[in-house]
Amino acid sequence: MSAYKFILHEDQIPPVWTNVMPHLPEPMAPPLHPATRQPIGPADLAPIFPMSLIEQEVSTKPEIDIPGEIIDIYKQWRPTPLHRARKLEKLLDTPAHIYYKYEGASPAGSHKPNTAVAQAYYNKQAGIKRLATETGAGQWGSSLALACNLFGMECTVYMVKVSYEQKPYRRIMMNTWGAEVFASPSDKTNSGRAVLASHPDSPGSLGIAISEAVEDAATHSDTNYSLGSVLNHVLLHQTVIGQESKLQMALAGDEPDVVIGCFGGGSNFGGIALPFVPGKLAGKNVRLLAAEPAACPTLTRGAFAYDFGDLAKLTPLLKMYTLGHDFVPPGIHAGGLRYHGASPLCSHLVHLGLIEARSYLQLSCFEAALAFARSEGIIPAPESSHAIRAAIDEALEAKQEGRPRTILFCLSGHGHFDMSSYEKYLSGQIHDYEYPQEEIRRAMEALPAV
Ligand SMILES: Cc1ncc(COP(=O)(O)O)c(C=O)c1O
Repeated sequence: MSAYKFILHEDQIPPVWTNVMPHLPEPMAPPLHPATRQPIGPADLAPIFPMSLIEQEVSTKPEIDIPGEIIDIYKQWRPTPLHRARKLEKLLDTPAHIYYKYEGASPAGSHKPNTAVAQAYYNKQAGIKRLATETGAGQWGSSLALACNLFGMECTVYMVKVSYEQKPYRRIMMNTWGAEVFASPSDKTNSGRAVLASHPDSPGSLGIAISEAVEDAATHSDTNYSLGSVLNHVLLHQTVIGQESKLQMALAGDEPDVVIGCFGGGSNFGGIALPFVPGKLAGKNVRLLAAEPAACPTLTRGAFAYDFGDLAKLTPLLKMYTLGHDFVPPGIHAGGLRYHGASPLCSHLVHLGLIEARSYLQLSCFEAALAFARSEGIIPAPESSHAIRAAIDEALEAKQEGRPRTILFCLSGHGHFDMSSYEKYLSGQIHDYEYPQEEIRRAMEALPAV
Protein backbone atom coordinates (compact mmCIF):
# COMPACT_ATOMS: atom_id res chain seq x y z
CA MET A 1 0.00 0.00 0.00
CA SER A 2 2.91 2.36 0.63
CA ALA A 3 4.93 1.72 -2.55
CA TYR A 4 6.95 4.57 -3.98
CA LYS A 5 7.88 2.97 -7.32
CA PHE A 6 6.10 0.67 -9.76
CA ILE A 7 8.59 -1.36 -11.73
CA LEU A 8 8.01 -3.60 -14.75
CA HIS A 9 10.20 -6.46 -16.00
CA GLU A 10 12.15 -6.13 -19.25
CA ASP A 11 9.77 -8.58 -20.90
CA GLN A 12 6.94 -6.11 -20.23
CA ILE A 13 8.39 -3.53 -22.63
CA PRO A 14 5.51 -3.08 -25.09
CA PRO A 15 5.95 -5.25 -28.22
CA VAL A 16 4.11 -2.65 -30.36
CA TRP A 17 3.78 1.10 -30.75
CA THR A 18 0.16 2.25 -30.55
CA ASN A 19 -1.21 4.37 -33.38
CA VAL A 20 -4.24 6.57 -32.71
CA MET A 21 -4.71 7.43 -36.39
CA PRO A 22 -7.39 4.74 -37.00
CA HIS A 23 -9.32 5.94 -33.92
CA LEU A 24 -9.61 9.60 -34.96
CA PRO A 25 -13.24 10.80 -35.21
CA GLU A 26 -12.22 13.02 -38.16
CA PRO A 27 -9.18 12.51 -40.42
CA MET A 28 -6.24 14.90 -40.20
CA ALA A 29 -5.56 17.46 -42.94
CA PRO A 30 -2.79 16.13 -45.23
CA PRO A 31 0.71 17.67 -45.42
CA LEU A 32 1.10 19.85 -48.53
CA HIS A 33 4.04 20.28 -50.90
CA PRO A 34 5.78 23.61 -50.11
CA ALA A 35 5.80 24.69 -53.78
CA THR A 36 2.68 23.17 -55.39
CA ARG A 37 0.52 23.28 -52.21
CA GLN A 38 -0.88 19.88 -53.23
CA PRO A 39 -0.92 16.89 -50.82
CA ILE A 40 2.50 15.25 -50.74
CA GLY A 41 3.12 11.59 -51.49
CA PRO A 42 5.80 9.18 -50.23
CA ALA A 43 8.10 10.08 -53.16
CA ASP A 44 8.28 13.70 -51.94
CA LEU A 45 9.69 12.60 -48.59
CA ALA A 46 11.99 9.85 -49.91
CA PRO A 47 15.06 12.15 -50.37
CA ILE A 48 15.31 12.66 -46.62
CA PHE A 49 13.43 9.79 -44.86
CA PRO A 50 13.55 5.97 -45.28
CA MET A 51 10.37 4.40 -46.69
CA SER A 52 9.70 2.45 -43.48
CA LEU A 53 9.35 5.72 -41.52
CA ILE A 54 7.29 7.34 -44.30
CA GLU A 55 4.93 4.34 -44.09
CA GLN A 56 4.67 4.79 -40.30
CA GLU A 57 3.94 8.50 -40.81
CA VAL A 58 0.73 7.69 -42.69
CA SER A 59 -0.09 4.26 -41.27
CA THR A 60 -3.67 3.50 -40.26
CA LYS A 61 -2.76 0.23 -38.51
CA PRO A 62 -3.74 0.42 -34.82
CA GLU A 63 -0.47 -1.22 -33.75
CA ILE A 64 2.99 -1.37 -35.27
CA ASP A 65 5.43 -4.11 -34.22
CA ILE A 66 8.63 -2.92 -32.54
CA PRO A 67 11.58 -4.79 -34.11
CA GLY A 68 13.53 -7.04 -31.70
CA GLU A 69 16.79 -5.09 -32.21
CA ILE A 70 15.08 -1.92 -30.98
CA ILE A 71 13.58 -3.71 -27.99
CA ASP A 72 17.06 -5.04 -27.14
CA ILE A 73 18.33 -1.45 -27.00
CA TYR A 74 15.27 -0.22 -25.09
CA LYS A 75 16.15 -2.87 -22.50
CA GLN A 76 19.27 -0.86 -21.59
CA TRP A 77 16.98 1.54 -19.66
CA ARG A 78 13.33 0.54 -20.25
CA PRO A 79 10.86 -0.03 -18.74
CA THR A 80 11.37 3.30 -16.97
CA PRO A 81 10.04 3.56 -13.41
CA LEU A 82 6.68 5.04 -12.44
CA HIS A 83 6.95 6.89 -9.13
CA ARG A 84 4.23 7.84 -6.70
CA ALA A 85 5.19 11.36 -5.57
CA ARG A 86 4.35 10.72 -1.91
CA LYS A 87 6.76 13.36 -0.59
CA LEU A 88 5.38 16.00 -2.94
CA GLU A 89 1.80 15.03 -2.00
CA LYS A 90 2.76 15.51 1.66
CA LEU A 91 4.39 18.87 0.97
CA LEU A 92 1.24 20.05 -0.82
CA ASP A 93 -1.00 18.47 1.80
CA THR A 94 -3.29 17.32 -0.99
CA PRO A 95 -5.76 14.44 -1.21
CA ALA A 96 -4.58 13.94 -4.82
CA HIS A 97 -2.48 10.95 -5.84
CA ILE A 98 0.42 12.15 -7.99
CA TYR A 99 2.35 9.74 -10.22
CA TYR A 100 5.24 10.53 -12.54
CA LYS A 101 6.80 8.46 -15.30
CA TYR A 102 10.53 9.12 -15.19
CA GLU A 103 12.04 9.28 -18.69
CA GLY A 104 15.24 10.87 -17.37
CA ALA A 105 16.42 7.30 -16.72
CA SER A 106 17.68 6.96 -20.33
CA PRO A 107 21.43 7.35 -21.04
CA ALA A 108 20.83 10.76 -22.64
CA GLY A 109 18.63 11.83 -19.72
CA SER A 110 15.28 12.28 -21.48
CA HIS A 111 12.53 10.55 -23.49
CA LYS A 112 14.19 11.45 -26.80
CA PRO A 113 16.16 8.18 -27.26
CA ASN A 114 12.85 6.25 -27.60
CA THR A 115 12.54 7.61 -31.13
CA ALA A 116 16.23 8.28 -31.82
CA VAL A 117 16.97 4.54 -31.56
CA ALA A 118 14.02 3.65 -33.82
CA GLN A 119 14.97 6.26 -36.43
CA ALA A 120 18.63 5.20 -36.50
CA TYR A 121 17.55 1.56 -36.85
CA TYR A 122 15.25 2.12 -39.85
CA ASN A 123 17.77 4.39 -41.58
CA LYS A 124 20.54 1.84 -41.10
CA GLN A 125 18.23 -0.83 -42.58
CA ALA A 126 17.79 1.44 -45.61
CA GLY A 127 21.57 1.65 -46.13
CA ILE A 128 21.94 5.22 -44.86
CA LYS A 129 25.39 6.05 -43.42
CA ARG A 130 24.80 9.42 -41.73
CA LEU A 131 21.92 11.28 -40.05
CA ALA A 132 21.66 15.07 -39.96
CA THR A 133 19.52 16.87 -37.42
CA GLU A 134 18.99 20.08 -35.50
CA THR A 135 18.96 20.56 -31.77
CA GLY A 136 17.89 23.38 -29.48
CA ALA A 137 19.22 22.93 -25.99
CA GLY A 138 20.93 19.67 -26.99
CA GLN A 139 18.64 16.96 -25.58
CA TRP A 140 17.58 15.72 -29.00
CA GLY A 141 21.04 16.04 -30.58
CA SER A 142 22.61 14.05 -27.77
CA SER A 143 19.91 11.36 -28.06
CA LEU A 144 20.47 10.97 -31.80
CA ALA A 145 24.26 10.96 -31.26
CA LEU A 146 23.77 8.09 -28.79
CA ALA A 147 21.51 6.17 -31.18
CA CYS A 148 23.77 6.63 -34.24
CA ASN A 149 26.71 5.44 -32.19
CA LEU A 150 24.80 2.29 -31.16
CA PHE A 151 24.17 1.48 -34.84
CA GLY A 152 27.64 2.48 -36.13
CA MET A 153 26.32 5.50 -38.08
CA GLU A 154 27.67 9.04 -38.42
CA CYS A 155 25.71 11.94 -36.97
CA THR A 156 25.79 15.67 -37.81
CA VAL A 157 24.01 18.08 -35.49
CA TYR A 158 23.16 21.74 -36.22
CA MET A 159 22.84 23.23 -32.75
CA VAL A 160 21.08 26.58 -32.20
CA LYS A 161 24.01 28.98 -31.73
CA VAL A 162 22.93 30.49 -28.42
CA SER A 163 22.76 27.01 -26.84
CA TYR A 164 26.02 25.93 -28.53
CA GLU A 165 27.72 28.80 -26.75
CA GLN A 166 25.83 28.65 -23.44
CA LYS A 167 25.48 24.87 -23.03
CA PRO A 168 28.87 23.34 -23.83
CA TYR A 169 28.23 20.13 -21.88
CA ARG A 170 25.45 18.86 -24.17
CA ARG A 171 27.75 19.53 -27.15
CA ILE A 172 30.58 17.63 -25.48
CA MET A 173 28.16 14.76 -24.79
CA MET A 174 27.37 14.61 -28.52
CA ASN A 175 31.09 14.65 -29.35
CA THR A 176 31.66 11.89 -26.78
CA TRP A 177 29.16 9.69 -28.62
CA GLY A 178 31.01 10.51 -31.87
CA ALA A 179 28.79 13.18 -33.48
CA GLU A 180 29.99 16.36 -35.24
CA VAL A 181 28.24 19.51 -34.02
CA PHE A 182 27.99 22.89 -35.80
CA ALA A 183 26.66 26.14 -34.33
CA SER A 184 23.62 27.17 -36.41
CA PRO A 185 23.39 29.38 -38.45
CA SER A 186 26.59 27.84 -39.88
CA ASP A 187 28.57 28.41 -43.05
CA LYS A 188 28.06 24.74 -44.01
CA THR A 189 24.74 25.24 -45.85
CA ASN A 190 23.09 27.75 -48.19
CA SER A 191 20.33 28.30 -45.59
CA GLY A 192 22.87 29.05 -42.86
CA ARG A 193 24.98 31.32 -45.10
CA ALA A 194 21.86 33.30 -46.12
CA VAL A 195 20.98 33.99 -42.48
CA LEU A 196 24.59 34.92 -41.64
CA ALA A 197 24.68 37.37 -44.58
CA SER A 198 21.60 39.25 -43.36
CA HIS A 199 22.04 38.72 -39.58
CA PRO A 200 25.73 38.02 -38.80
CA ASP A 201 24.96 37.98 -35.05
CA SER A 202 21.88 35.76 -35.28
CA PRO A 203 21.48 33.67 -32.09
CA GLY A 204 19.88 30.98 -34.28
CA SER A 205 16.53 29.25 -33.87
CA LEU A 206 15.17 25.74 -34.33
CA GLY A 207 13.53 26.92 -37.58
CA ILE A 208 16.95 27.90 -39.01
CA ALA A 209 18.70 24.76 -37.73
CA ILE A 210 16.00 22.54 -39.29
CA SER A 211 16.58 24.26 -42.66
CA GLU A 212 20.30 23.49 -42.39
CA ALA A 213 19.82 19.83 -41.43
CA VAL A 214 17.17 19.22 -44.14
CA GLU A 215 19.41 20.84 -46.77
CA ASP A 216 22.39 18.73 -45.64
CA ALA A 217 20.31 15.54 -45.97
CA ALA A 218 18.73 16.51 -49.29
CA THR A 219 22.11 17.25 -50.87
CA HIS A 220 23.92 14.05 -49.75
CA SER A 221 22.69 10.68 -51.00
CA ASP A 222 24.17 8.73 -48.06
CA THR A 223 22.53 11.06 -45.52
CA ASN A 224 18.99 11.32 -44.20
CA TYR A 225 17.26 13.80 -41.93
CA SER A 226 15.95 12.96 -38.50
CA LEU A 227 13.45 14.98 -36.48
CA GLY A 228 13.08 14.68 -32.70
CA SER A 229 9.44 15.71 -32.35
CA VAL A 230 6.33 16.96 -34.20
CA LEU A 231 5.90 14.20 -36.83
CA ASN A 232 3.48 11.28 -36.45
CA HIS A 233 6.17 8.58 -36.51
CA VAL A 234 8.10 10.33 -33.72
CA LEU A 235 5.04 10.45 -31.45
CA LEU A 236 4.30 6.83 -32.40
CA HIS A 237 7.72 5.71 -31.11
CA GLN A 238 7.12 7.59 -27.86
CA THR A 239 3.90 5.67 -27.11
CA VAL A 240 5.98 3.15 -25.14
CA ILE A 241 5.81 5.77 -22.34
CA GLY A 242 2.02 5.76 -22.07
CA GLN A 243 1.68 2.02 -22.60
CA GLU A 244 4.10 1.24 -19.78
CA SER A 245 2.41 3.86 -17.59
CA LYS A 246 -0.95 2.13 -18.04
CA LEU A 247 0.51 -1.20 -16.83
CA GLN A 248 2.19 0.55 -13.91
CA MET A 249 -0.96 2.46 -12.91
CA ALA A 250 -2.74 -0.89 -12.86
CA LEU A 251 0.00 -2.22 -10.52
CA ALA A 252 -0.64 0.81 -8.30
CA GLY A 253 -4.38 0.09 -8.40
CA ASP A 254 -5.17 3.60 -9.65
CA GLU A 255 -6.45 5.14 -12.87
CA PRO A 256 -5.52 8.68 -13.92
CA ASP A 257 -8.16 11.43 -13.96
CA VAL A 258 -5.68 13.66 -15.74
CA VAL A 259 -2.58 12.87 -17.84
CA ILE A 260 -0.06 15.70 -18.21
CA GLY A 261 3.05 16.35 -20.30
CA CYS A 262 5.05 19.46 -21.12
CA PHE A 263 4.67 20.49 -24.74
CA GLY A 264 7.42 21.58 -27.13
CA GLY A 265 6.69 19.82 -30.42
CA GLY A 266 4.48 17.25 -28.69
CA SER A 267 6.54 14.07 -28.45
CA ASN A 268 6.70 13.40 -24.69
CA PHE A 269 3.14 14.65 -24.27
CA GLY A 270 1.97 12.47 -27.18
CA GLY A 271 4.00 9.57 -25.79
CA ILE A 272 2.25 9.57 -22.45
CA ALA A 273 -1.20 10.82 -23.58
CA LEU A 274 -1.95 9.20 -26.95
CA PRO A 275 -2.37 5.65 -25.55
CA PHE A 276 -5.24 7.07 -23.45
CA VAL A 277 -7.07 8.52 -26.48
CA PRO A 278 -8.90 5.34 -27.63
CA GLY A 279 -10.28 4.84 -24.07
CA LYS A 280 -11.29 8.51 -23.88
CA LEU A 281 -13.11 8.23 -27.21
CA ALA A 282 -14.87 5.12 -25.88
CA GLY A 283 -16.20 7.19 -22.95
CA LYS A 284 -13.49 6.98 -20.25
CA ASN A 285 -13.40 10.09 -18.13
CA VAL A 286 -9.74 11.08 -18.49
CA ARG A 287 -8.43 14.58 -19.23
CA LEU A 288 -5.29 15.07 -21.33
CA LEU A 289 -3.44 18.29 -20.48
CA ALA A 290 -0.53 19.82 -22.44
CA ALA A 291 1.63 22.31 -20.50
CA GLU A 292 3.47 24.93 -22.56
CA PRO A 293 5.47 28.08 -21.76
CA ALA A 294 3.72 31.49 -21.81
CA ALA A 295 6.77 32.71 -23.74
CA CYS A 296 6.01 30.29 -26.61
CA PRO A 297 2.24 29.74 -26.39
CA THR A 298 1.75 27.69 -29.56
CA LEU A 299 -1.34 25.71 -28.55
CA THR A 300 -3.01 28.35 -26.39
CA ARG A 301 -2.50 31.47 -28.55
CA GLY A 302 -1.29 30.29 -31.97
CA ALA A 303 -3.45 29.79 -35.08
CA PHE A 304 -4.56 26.33 -36.29
CA ALA A 305 -3.36 26.75 -39.85
CA TYR A 306 -1.02 25.39 -42.53
CA ASP A 307 2.55 26.57 -41.94
CA PHE A 308 6.13 25.63 -42.71
CA GLY A 309 8.19 23.73 -40.17
CA ASP A 310 11.28 25.87 -40.82
CA LEU A 311 12.41 29.37 -41.65
CA ALA A 312 13.71 28.66 -45.18
CA LYS A 313 10.34 27.08 -46.13
CA LEU A 314 11.95 23.79 -47.18
CA THR A 315 9.62 21.50 -45.21
CA PRO A 316 6.12 20.44 -46.25
CA LEU A 317 3.24 22.62 -45.06
CA LEU A 318 1.65 21.07 -41.98
CA LYS A 319 -1.76 21.93 -40.53
CA MET A 320 -0.91 22.70 -36.93
CA TYR A 321 -1.07 25.28 -34.18
CA THR A 322 1.69 27.75 -35.04
CA LEU A 323 3.18 31.07 -33.96
CA GLY A 324 4.54 31.57 -37.51
CA HIS A 325 7.60 29.98 -39.14
CA ASP A 326 9.68 33.16 -38.70
CA PHE A 327 9.16 33.06 -34.91
CA VAL A 328 12.45 33.82 -33.12
CA PRO A 329 11.95 32.65 -29.57
CA PRO A 330 12.77 34.70 -26.52
CA GLY A 331 15.67 33.29 -24.48
CA ILE A 332 13.64 31.33 -21.94
CA HIS A 333 15.27 28.53 -20.02
CA ALA A 334 13.18 25.65 -21.32
CA GLY A 335 15.08 25.54 -24.63
CA GLY A 336 13.24 22.43 -25.82
CA LEU A 337 9.84 24.16 -25.63
CA ARG A 338 10.66 27.02 -27.97
CA TYR A 339 9.42 25.70 -31.32
CA HIS A 340 6.91 27.76 -33.32
CA GLY A 341 4.81 24.76 -34.39
CA ALA A 342 3.18 21.74 -32.78
CA SER A 343 2.61 18.12 -33.71
CA PRO A 344 -0.19 18.09 -36.33
CA LEU A 345 -1.69 15.04 -34.59
CA CYS A 346 -1.83 16.75 -31.16
CA SER A 347 -2.99 19.98 -32.84
CA HIS A 348 -5.86 18.07 -34.45
CA LEU A 349 -6.82 16.58 -31.07
CA VAL A 350 -6.66 20.02 -29.41
CA HIS A 351 -8.86 21.38 -32.20
CA LEU A 352 -11.35 18.53 -31.63
CA GLY A 353 -11.42 19.31 -27.90
CA LEU A 354 -9.83 16.01 -26.86
CA ILE A 355 -6.66 17.63 -25.50
CA GLU A 356 -6.59 20.70 -23.20
CA ALA A 357 -3.68 23.12 -23.27
CA ARG A 358 -2.50 25.66 -20.68
CA SER A 359 0.47 27.99 -20.61
CA TYR A 360 2.72 28.72 -17.62
CA LEU A 361 5.14 31.54 -16.78
CA GLN A 362 8.73 30.45 -16.23
CA LEU A 363 9.09 31.71 -12.65
CA SER A 364 6.14 29.58 -11.52
CA CYS A 365 7.71 26.58 -13.32
CA PHE A 366 11.05 27.03 -11.54
CA GLU A 367 9.16 27.36 -8.25
CA ALA A 368 7.47 24.01 -9.02
CA ALA A 369 10.82 22.48 -10.03
CA LEU A 370 12.32 23.45 -6.68
CA ALA A 371 9.37 22.07 -4.72
CA PHE A 372 9.80 18.83 -6.68
CA ALA A 373 13.60 18.66 -6.25
CA ARG A 374 13.27 19.34 -2.51
CA SER A 375 10.60 16.68 -2.01
CA GLU A 376 11.16 13.96 -4.65
CA GLY A 377 14.92 14.55 -4.99
CA ILE A 378 15.16 14.56 -8.79
CA ILE A 379 16.20 17.89 -10.33
CA PRO A 380 13.95 18.18 -13.38
CA ALA A 381 14.78 19.56 -16.82
CA PRO A 382 13.34 23.09 -17.15
CA GLU A 383 11.08 21.71 -19.91
CA SER A 384 9.66 19.06 -17.57
CA SER A 385 9.04 21.68 -14.88
CA HIS A 386 6.04 22.86 -16.92
CA ALA A 387 4.41 19.45 -16.41
CA ILE A 388 5.25 19.61 -12.70
CA ARG A 389 3.65 23.07 -12.45
CA ALA A 390 0.49 21.72 -14.10
CA ALA A 391 0.46 18.65 -11.83
CA ILE A 392 0.91 20.77 -8.69
CA ASP A 393 -1.90 23.11 -9.80
CA GLU A 394 -4.18 20.08 -10.32
CA ALA A 395 -3.25 18.74 -6.87
CA LEU A 396 -3.93 22.12 -5.22
CA GLU A 397 -7.27 22.35 -6.99
CA ALA A 398 -8.17 18.89 -5.63
CA LYS A 399 -7.20 20.12 -2.16
CA GLN A 400 -9.41 23.18 -2.52
CA GLU A 401 -12.30 20.98 -3.61
CA GLY A 402 -11.53 18.54 -0.80
CA ARG A 403 -11.78 15.67 -3.29
CA PRO A 404 -9.23 13.07 -4.44
CA ARG A 405 -7.82 13.28 -7.94
CA THR A 406 -5.34 10.94 -9.64
CA ILE A 407 -2.69 12.79 -11.60
CA LEU A 408 -0.18 11.16 -13.94
CA PHE A 409 2.57 13.23 -15.55
CA CYS A 410 5.61 12.61 -17.69
CA LEU A 411 8.87 13.72 -16.11
CA SER A 412 10.51 13.97 -19.53
CA GLY A 413 14.09 14.52 -18.35
CA HIS A 414 16.52 15.48 -15.64
CA GLY A 415 18.11 18.91 -15.45
CA HIS A 416 21.72 17.96 -14.73
CA PHE A 417 22.97 20.00 -17.69
CA ASP A 418 20.76 22.96 -16.84
CA MET A 419 22.50 24.08 -13.68
CA SER A 420 23.26 27.53 -15.11
CA SER A 421 19.48 28.07 -15.45
CA TYR A 422 18.95 26.96 -11.84
CA GLU A 423 21.80 29.23 -10.75
CA LYS A 424 20.08 32.19 -12.46
CA TYR A 425 16.76 31.31 -10.81
CA LEU A 426 18.33 30.93 -7.38
CA SER A 427 20.07 34.31 -7.69
CA GLY A 428 16.89 36.09 -8.80
CA GLN A 429 17.97 36.63 -12.40
CA ILE A 430 15.02 34.93 -14.10
CA HIS A 431 12.07 37.02 -15.17
CA ASP A 432 8.65 36.23 -16.53
CA TYR A 433 7.94 36.90 -20.17
CA GLU A 434 4.68 36.59 -22.06
CA TYR A 435 4.81 36.48 -25.84
CA PRO A 436 3.43 39.83 -27.13
CA GLN A 437 0.09 39.83 -28.95
CA GLU A 438 1.49 42.23 -31.55
CA GLU A 439 4.13 39.64 -32.56
CA ILE A 440 1.46 36.96 -32.92
CA ARG A 441 -0.65 39.27 -35.10
CA ARG A 442 2.35 40.08 -37.31
CA ALA A 443 3.31 36.41 -37.68
CA MET A 444 -0.24 35.44 -38.62
CA GLU A 445 -0.05 37.84 -41.56
CA ALA A 446 3.04 35.96 -42.79
CA LEU A 447 1.34 32.54 -42.79
CA PRO A 448 1.28 30.95 -46.26
CA ALA A 449 -2.03 31.33 -48.12
CA VAL A 450 -3.49 27.84 -48.64
C1 LIG B 1 13.53 17.13 -21.32
C2 LIG B 1 12.68 17.59 -22.45
N1 LIG B 1 11.34 17.58 -22.29
C3 LIG B 1 10.52 18.01 -23.26
C4 LIG B 1 11.01 18.47 -24.47
C5 LIG B 1 10.04 18.99 -25.47
O1 LIG B 1 9.93 18.22 -26.61
P1 LIG B 1 8.63 17.38 -26.93
O2 LIG B 1 7.47 18.33 -26.88
O3 LIG B 1 8.89 16.86 -28.30
O4 LIG B 1 8.54 16.32 -25.92
C6 LIG B 1 12.38 18.49 -24.69
C7 LIG B 1 12.92 18.96 -25.98
O5 LIG B 1 14.07 19.06 -26.22
C8 LIG B 1 13.24 18.04 -23.66
O6 LIG B 1 14.55 18.04 -23.82
